Amino acid sequence: MSDLQYIRVEWDQELAIVVIDRAEKLNALNAEVVGEIGDVFRDLKEDDNVLGVILTGAGDKAFVAGADIGELAQLTPATAVKFSREGHRILGEIERFPKPVLAAVGGYALGGGCELALACHLRVASENARFGFPEVGLGIMPGYGGTVRIARVVGFGVAVEMVLTGAMVDAERAERIGLVSAVYPREALLDQAKVFLRGITKNGPIGVRMALESLYMAQNSTLADAASFESVLFGLLASTADMKEGLTAFLEKRKAAFKGE
Ligand code: COA
Repeated sequence: MSDLQYIRVEWDQELAIVVIDRAEKLNALNAEVVGEIGDVFRDLKEDDNVLGVILTGAGDKAFVAGADIGELAQLTPATAVKFSREGHRILGEIERFPKPVLAAVGGYALGGGCELALACHLRVASENARFGFPEVGLGIMPGYGGTVRIARVVGFGVAVEMVLTGAMVDAERAERIGLVSAVYPREALLDQAKVFLRGITKNGPIGVRMALESLYMAQNSTLADAASFESVLFGLLASTADMKEGLTAFLEKRKAAFKGE
């Protein structure tokens, strides 16, 4: 993970904290930032020491204030398609990341920033967080999955409102509509995000991984196919030491010590 210009990776035991650090431009996503996000997640995927990832932005003002508008202004029809497809590919990798990814949104999550947060499995926010899709005000539309993922999280009605008006949703409303799971004071965001994510990483890692697979399948296939896939994964878990440990620990009234095996 050397040679990164815009991304810092910090570690806190089993958690990797991926910080988008282009604070002077409110962490706007230029091509390099997007490419580096892809590189970092590809590396973390192979790292068995990582049980969960927090994605956040540097500075107090923004998670990510969108795609870089200077770069957008240069797009031609052909490069715009490429731009969108590349964004979809990398955000898709985050969505399919085998361990939980939590977006810690401290400030603006606009346009591509909102789309990036939506590609994460979970979101928490600071009190000053603002979510929205300002694209229509720029004469464009979301191109990194915004129109695809927002409805799955907040429902179609609010999705249409957000995408067509471009109006920002504050943290309090974001929590109410299920866009974020929790809201914290700005200074407590990262620590609270770690506590939140550790509520997941303390669980059996293989069970968590397979549950994520199953949740993804449920979003992208028929009920019958997803139910069948769930049964197969459930059966597979019966072959793990973690399942034995989890169930035995309960029966023996002790805390489970999962090994991810
Ligand atoms: N792309 C490129 N640069 C951006 C940017 C973006 N999406 N968002 C912010 N910046 C830059 C600003 O141009 C400014 O750079 P400068 O200091 O060199 O002039 C810097 O980040 C700080 O932003 P500024 O606008 O001065 O901060 P603010 O607090 O007054 O306003 C926002 C914050 C988020 C409301 C405002 O920056 C904004 O509307 N940004 C664009 C949001 C957007 O439309 N995103 C979707 C793109 S598809």
